[in-house]
Amino acid sequence: MDDLKSKYLSLIADAADESAIEDLRVQAVGKKGEISLKMRELGKMTPEERQVAGPALNALKDEINSALSAKKAALADAALDERLRSEWLDVTLPARDGRVGTIHPISQVTEEVSAIFADMGFAVAEGPQIESDWYNFDALNIPGHHPARAEMDTFYTHRAEGDDRPPHVLRTHTSPVQIRSMEAGGAPIRIICPGRVYRADYDQTHTPMFNQVEGLAIDKDISMANLKWTLEEFFSAYFGARVKTRFRASHFPFTEPSAEVDIQCSWVDGQLKVGEGDGWLEVLGSGMVHPKVLQAAKIDPDQWQGFAFGVGIDRIAMLKYGIPDLRAFFDSDLRWLRHYGFSALQVPTLHGGL
Ligand code: DAH
Repeated sequence: MDDLKSKYLSLIADAADESAIEDLRVQAVGKKGEISLKMRELGKMTPEERQVAGPALNALKDEINSALSAKKAALADAALDERLRSEWLDVTLPARDGRVGTIHPISQVTEEVSAIFADMGFAVAEGPQIESDWYNFDALNIPGHHPARAEMDTFYTHRAEGDDRPPHVLRTHTSPVQIRSMEAGGAPIRIICPGRVYRADYDQTHTPMFNQVEGLAIDKDISMANLKWTLEEFFSAYFGARVKTRFRASHFPFTEPSAEVDIQCSWVDGQLKVGEGDGWLEVLGSGMVHPKVLQAAKIDPDQWQGFAFGVGIDRIAMLKYGIPDLRAFFDSDLRWLRHYGFSALQVPTLHGGL
């Protein structure tokens, strides 16, 4: 019995897991276990022998059973400890960053410009990017022989052989949307037309596709003074500082008189600041809509007049957000987009200071 006891106690002590414990239980105290078989032998003993061996065997059985359950509990504790160690979770860690996209600066600035002009009563109009020769040029008083056509580096589409109608073009400016909007809505009208435009040109400040916003206001008594006020209001709201403008006489076929507009700025230590200093930066073209343009859009120039302007969206985005190279706008470099992009929740509003 002593042999049995020390054999099982040491086997139990060495058991590595719960299934080993179960095997030992069957082997020792199961129906056909070693100790159970010994108990069966009690029947063959003399009463005196049985009186000694009976209690001793019962005690052995009890001892083995309690050793088995103690070891089983110890193994379960160790298993739990191991799980707690390996499945440890720090609930105080910050959540992992979800990859969220950003709003492109051009989209953001288009929204900003629209919000500012909406506040001044301008609606947003759109037109096609593939435009007819008539809307892109003729209706804007740029006839076939006009040098402005050659200057625009136009992308032309192809006509079928033998078809000598003028080919459509990728619109070189947003000005054709003026004509389409006046045709559709007549006068009075106040609109801005943001959108993509195309010219065959490529360097640090020119890309074959870029963005403009056109402005148009037609009514009975509109003058250059209204144009100047509107633009100063716009630039001041956009840059968040009072911005002076300077009008320089210029020439565009679709306006008479025409002016190029500069905004006040300073250059200090290579840093450009808009709305201060005594420097000037050219930002747009403008003027009083030419009577021939009104006529082309079926509006009577003896009754109506107004101003128009065109400004590069990418250009004013670069100025406001300190973006040095225009080409990067269209490279789709994720690092650039994350750096210069805006959160979808940063919706520009006038009351939010844009
Ligand atoms: N369409 C001109 C361009 O792309 C910009 C422009 C100048 C638009 C004068 C106008 C304007 O409406 O009046 O260079």
